[in-house]
Amino acid sequence: MNYLAIVGTNSDVSTNRMLLQFMKEHFKDEAQIELYEIKQLPAFYEVEESQVPEAVDALSTKIQQADGVIIATPEYDHAIPAVLKSALEWISYTSQALIDKPVLIVGASHGALGSSRAQAQLRQILYSPELAARLMPSSEFLLGKSQAAFNAKGALIDADKQAELDEIFREFVLFTGLITKLLSNKAGIKKDKKYVWQTQEA
Ligand SMILES: Cc1cc2nc3c(=O)[nH]c(=O)nc-3n(C[C@H](O)[C@H](O)[C@H](O)COP(=O)(O)O)c2cc1C
Repeated sequence: MNYLAIVGTNSDVSTNRMLLQFMKEHFKDEAQIELYEIKQLPAFYEVEESQVPEAVDALSTKIQQADGVIIATPEYDHAIPAVLKSALEWISYTSQALIDKPVLIVGASHGALGSSRAQAQLRQILYSPELAARLMPSSEFLLGKSQAAFNAKGALIDADKQAELDEIFREFVLFTGLITKLLSNKAGIKKDKKYVWQTQEA
């Protein structure tokens, strides 16, 4: 499988980025994971189709080409960071590339709760009609006390937490295959994805 892993922050130092870097290395025999940095995107604003920033189109292409997407979110004021919301707004308003895309949410926080409230909010956002991702069900990976969670080599220290991540990731690989099969079976009835401005013209 080939996954795009979105780092949900523009901070230079981030335990969410460390978590994705760990996953990329740890699961390298099972999947190819490419990290994506949202800090290269401008803050969202409404544009004409011809004016979409190149970086946004490049992100859409990466999402379209991936078998699935992993999003690691910090928690800011009980919510996802504004930069992550902005990145999702670009996708929702332009390519809608997340529609039907298998998505796994993970998250790390410096406190004990591991970004649980941000993850719940992200789930809700990803169910909106213009995003409509296929979210991995019945799973949450919450990495609390994340500043003490990694060793000097960037690996998770807690063996139980690592085993939990192993199980969730392997289920996500299976889930990705199931969703791909499901969508290929309903190919005949899948409606074309349109840009928002095309929908408005129709
Ligand atoms: C503006 C701001 C708001 C925060 N709000 C919360 C919060 O509501 N809940 C929480 O657990 N941590 C909060 N934190 C601390 C976060 O745990 C931490 O910054 C972030 O999740 C860790 O992600 P990172 O290491 O990838 O930056 C906040 C941090 C900042 C900078």
